[in-house]
Amino acid sequence: MAETFRVGLTRDFLTAEGRIGWGEIGLEALTSARGLSWDFIDADEPEVPARVAAAYDALIVLAPTVSAATLQEADRLRLVARFGVGYDNVDVPSCTDAGVLLTITPDGVRRPVAVAALTMMLALMHRVRDKDLLVRTGRWHDKLDYQGTSPRGRVLGLLGWGNIGREISSISAPLGMRQLAADPYADPAAAAAAGVGLCDVDRLFSEADVIVVTCALTAETHHLVDAERLARMKPTAYLVNIARGPIVDQKALTAALAERRIAGAALDVFESEPPAEDDGLLGLDNVLLAPHAAAWTDELALGNGTSAIRAVLDVAAGRVPAHVVNPEALNHPKLSPLKSRSIDE
Ligand SMILES: NC(=O)c1ccc[n+]([C@@H]2O[C@H](COP(=O)([O-])OP(=O)(O)OC[C@H]3O[C@@H](n4cnc5c(N)ncnc54)[C@H](O)[C@@H]3O)[C@@H](O)[C@H]2O)c1
Repeated sequence: MAETFRVGLTRDFLTAEGRIGWGEIGLEALTSARGLSWDFIDADEPEVPARVAAAYDALIVLAPTVSAATLQEADRLRLVARFGVGYDNVDVPSCTDAGVLLTITPDGVRRPVAVAALTMMLALMHRVRDKDLLVRTGRWHDKLDYQGTSPRGRVLGLLGWGNIGREISSISAPLGMRQLAADPYADPAAAAAAGVGLCDVDRLFSEADVIVVTCALTAETHHLVDAERLARMKPTAYLVNIARGPIVDQKALTAALAERRIAGAALDVFESEPPAEDDGLLGLDNVLLAPHAAAWTDELALGNGTSAIRAVLDVAAGRVPAHVVNPEALNHPKLSPLKSRSIDE
């Protein structure tokens, strides 16, 4: 009889009370799968211990590190399914050497992060934070001083046009904005088909009424939004960062906001998270802040869970899963029984 395919979820999915902190993540699909068992790993440590990795065929990983040490005895492990799209906690070359596939969940984050970006953009343009405060502080009649900016006819500038950037383009199309994107790796034909004009970063910053940062954080994009680029922005323009904090020079942004050289910003991500208590940003009234959770919705939880679990079920059934970060691991003899998917979503 075939051995049970063992799946471990890292323990940080559980709250101190033993609930799944993310809510509904689609575990029923694991429970009802035949020939498969799952549990939460018994270690609650920053790094998945080697003895734990050695006991499973697949791990679904939230924050703990998967290092070379984790994988040193992982003879049966074939999959690390990262719940989310960032994988800086996983040592990819070590996974490849050990014959372990790493998958991520771009299909889970795409819509909720795009909607979060749009929510932040519209909240800025309609001055939701200011208007809330007018009511709470008895300043109802000051409302004429707080006119908003309509998106229609304005220029949306996307810094990065990948998974999430393209989704922002598509869901914001009915707002009637002209769309520009700066992404040296974007497909020009796809951009043209979507009605998005590709341009360089400087032009994006000069022309856009709202800039949404949605590129990957790389050596090339670190502080891509710096004092010089911020100085190119219209005084009426807004900046939204939903991607990663270090893409924006936060000191330069704080100065631009404090001196009201731009109209405002919305930040879901910061150079260091959480920001220090005395961070100058926290005292500004023209910035909207979220604790890297603007996209944290029921849809995100279920989408990430469904995607990660689908990868597990694929590997358990002998299929190559979607959204593999290290396809070169398929050359490892341990993974040679896996067959390519006939349909890749
Ligand atoms: N706030 C959140 O909760 C949250 C959740 C998921 C993802 N993210 C972040 O959102 C961002 C986008 O994620 P994604 O899934 O769309 O990733 P993706 O890899 O699909 O897209 C990233 C895009 O950045 C582009 N890029 C790379 N270098 C660039 C450069 N120099 N200038 C302009 N563009 C450049 C790439 O070509 C790519 O199109 C990432 O930074 C990711 O970490 C944030």
